[in-house]
Order: sequence, then structure tokens, then C-alpha cells
Amino acid sequence: MMALPITVFLLVLVFLISRRRKPLYPPGPKGLPIIGNMLMMDQLTHHGLAKLAETYGGLFHLRMGFRHVFAITSPEVAQQVLQVQDISFSNRPVTIAINYLTYDLADMAFAPYGPFWRQMRKVCVMKVFSRRRAESWASVRDEVNNMVRSLSSNVGKPVNVGELIFTLTRNITYRAAFGGACETEQDEFIRILQEFSKLFGAFNVADFIPFLGWFDFHGINKRLVKARNDLDGFIDEVIDEHMKKREIISVDEDTDMVDDLLAFYNEEEKLVSEDSSTNRNKNSVKLTRDNIKALVMDVMFGGTETMASGIEWALTELLRNPDELKRLQQELAEVVGLDQRVDETHLEKLTFLKCTLKETMRLHPPIPLILHEAIEDTKLQGFNVPKGSRVMINAFAIARDPKLWVDPEDV
Ligand code: HEM
Repeated sequence: MMALPITVFLLVLVFLISRRRKPLYPPGPKGLPIIGNMLMMDQLTHHGLAKLAETYGGLFHLRMGFRHVFAITSPEVAQQVLQVQDISFSNRPVTIAINYLTYDLADMAFAPYGPFWRQMRKVCVMKVFSRRRAESWASVRDEVNNMVRSLSSNVGKPVNVGELIFTLTRNITYRAAFGGACETEQDEFIRILQEFSKLFGAFNVADFIPFLGWFDFHGINKRLVKARNDLDGFIDEVIDEHMKKREIISVDEDTDMVDDLLAFYNEEEKLVSEDSSTNRNKNSVKLTRDNIKALVMDVMFGGTETMASGIEWALTELLRNPDELKRLQQELAEVVGLDQRVDETHLEKLTFLKCTLKETMRLHPPIPLILHEAIEDTKLQGFNVPKGSRVMINAFAIARDPKLWVDPEDV
């Protein structure tokens, strides 16, 4: 007699358990009311997040103030974000500092996905990174020659290789952007860049709890205004000089990035009427001064430290692995010859050099955490990802995952 109620009870229980809803968000460290996991801020580095992933898995969830954050160390989930659902995750997280210092997202790197971003990308592909420009980058060779000369005149003495390489990539990017410059001008610009860099990375509680922005606890708002004014002062002068130069000599063969962007501006001026109310004219590629300044900063930030870090790590790994160093030297001797400089025509045949660089990028990605933002509500592995959520893809951890690589820490 008792068997029937027990069976019914068990069936109901199984039904209820099977219907129990999957949690809305993936697992993650428990946070506090309102501030969520903000006290864990110092753990949100590629090393810290890799450690947390050991406890919470390849996709875990944090809350920073009012914002959802998803940390990813699973290659499958990374592929979802960067490839399968790339449109849903196509924005980059924008902080108050980024918004202000990019002239309200008047650049390419931080502009929200849409017609304006597509137009900016078109300008860059057609004008700034065109094949013709790449072929005419004599200044790159010039800077490399300067560095080699400086090294060879210091044989037997210690050199700070990191400093030397950073100066090289900074000079190359600076010349690509502005053409030549005197040393004081360069120093002034580097000072501005350094302050931008500090402000980009500075913690600002108002990014997570917006109403606290009024209090400006860290004095960031004042520093932002000063930094952008300094940049305006510097680049406006450069732009004016470039415009004057264009009036005197007709420039067929543009020499630097500002020339290229100004040329585009002039070409378009004949075709479209100016919409000065916004930096994001949807139907044309007309550039404002702010667009030019913001694009120059994209290239200065995108190109300088990434390249320097890559070269420095490649040299470090080669010094740590003398057999590989010898093999590379042999390849260079055979393909290029010891009395010649490497140029683009050699690259195709320098197979071991290419492997060395790829392995360096795997072990030491110059941007170890790739940050994106959801532009719409979506899902990852069945979990909710609300619009505006931030995702942090741990490229560093994925590239050293022992489940994916044999001897992941070895070159
Ligand atoms: C070793 C060298 C470099 C590395 C490792 C590197 C890495 C990256 C990464 C990881 C991203 C973001 C991708 C994403 O969010 O999905 C990116 C974007 C970008 N990089 Fe680089 N980069 C390098 C060199 C450069 C150079 C030399 C420049 C400029 C001269 C540059 C300019 C940019 C720009 C403008 C973006 C934003 C593109 C967009 O929003 O469409 N990068 N880079």
C-alpha cells in the first residue's frame, strides 16, 4: 500500500530536480553587496585570473559594482567570443578615461561597432596601413640602422637592451605618425603619452559605480583635462605645420600618417558637407581634427609597447636557449649573409625566425588579456551574458594550458 505514494513522491522529486533551472551565470567567487568583487581588483591580471580559473573553471563570473564580468580561459569559449559570436562581442570596454582621452571615441580601437567604426577602419586600411605606405617606410630601416650603429659603437660595454628596443619602436612609430621631429618635441610627446598610459590604467571607482564620479576621489578628472589639453597643444601645432607644408608643396607622395589623414580629409571635403556637430558622421569618412588626434594615439599605443615587448622577449628566450640561438644565426647566415641587413624579401625564407617569433608570441603575448564587451544580450555555454557585460579572454593562460600544449612552458 505504501509503495504507490513513495513512487509518486520520488517521481515528483525527480521531475522537480530535473526542472531545476541552470543558474543564470557561471560559477565565480562570491562578492559583497553593491561592490560585488571589487575588492579582488588586484587579482584581475592574467596570472591572477589563471589562478582563479583553477577553482572556478574556464568560464567564470565576477561582478564589479553594477557590471557583469566574465573571465575566459577555455579556448572553446574564447572562440565563441572572438569568432562564432564576434558581432555580439564586438565592442571594447570603455572607461571614463578612455572615453575622454579618445575625444568621445573618435578613434578606431574604441569606437563602438557600427558604420563609424567601419569607416575609420576603411581609412586605416586604405591610407594609413596601405601597401604603398609599407613599401615606402624607409624611416624604419633608418631607425634600425641607427640602433645597430649605436650597438656596434658600444661593443664590450653593457647595454640596456629593453631601453634600446623601446626607443627603436617608439622612434619608428613616432616618425610614421608625424615624420621627423627634434628631440625636445619627441620628449614632450613621450611625456604626454606616459600620462595617457597611466590614466588608461588608473583605477576609477566611477567606472563601476557611476554616481561616485561626482566626487572624483582620485583626482582623475582634473588629470584627464590637463592631459587632453597637453595633447591638443602638441598635435594641433603638428597638424597646422603639415597643412602649411601642403599649401607650399603639392604632396603626391605623402610622407607620414598626419599627411595621409589630412589628404583624406581634403579629398572628402570636396564631396561631402561637414557635419561639425559630431565626430561620428555616419555617411562619410570625413575626418575632424579630433579623429586625426585619436587615430594617431591608437597607433602610438597599439604599435610601440607591443612591438618592443615582442622583440625583447624573443631575444630573452634566445639567450636562455643557446642551441636555438645558434640555429637562428645559422639560418640568417645562409639566407641573408653575414655582411647584409635583413629586409622584407628575405622573410619568406626565414622559416626558423618565423617559428621563433610565433613561439615568443605564444609564451609572452604582448597583450595577455583581450578585453571585449557584449553589445547585446547573449549566452555563453548556456549562461546569460547581459548586454554591457565585459569579457576578459586570458590569451596568456590559453597559450600555456597543459591540456592543449606538450611541454607548454618550454620553447
Ligand atoms: C607584436 C605586435 C602586436 C601585437 C601582439 C598586437 C596585438 C593586438 C591585439 C591583441 C589587439 C586586440 C584584438 C582584439 O581585441 O580582438 C590589437 C588591436 C589593435 N592593434 Fe595591435 N598588436 C601589435 C602591433 C600593432 C601595431 C604595430 C599597430 C599600429 C601601428 C597596432 C594597432 C592596433 C589597433 C589600431 C588595434 C585596434 C583594431 C580595431 O579596433 O579594429 N598593433 N592588437
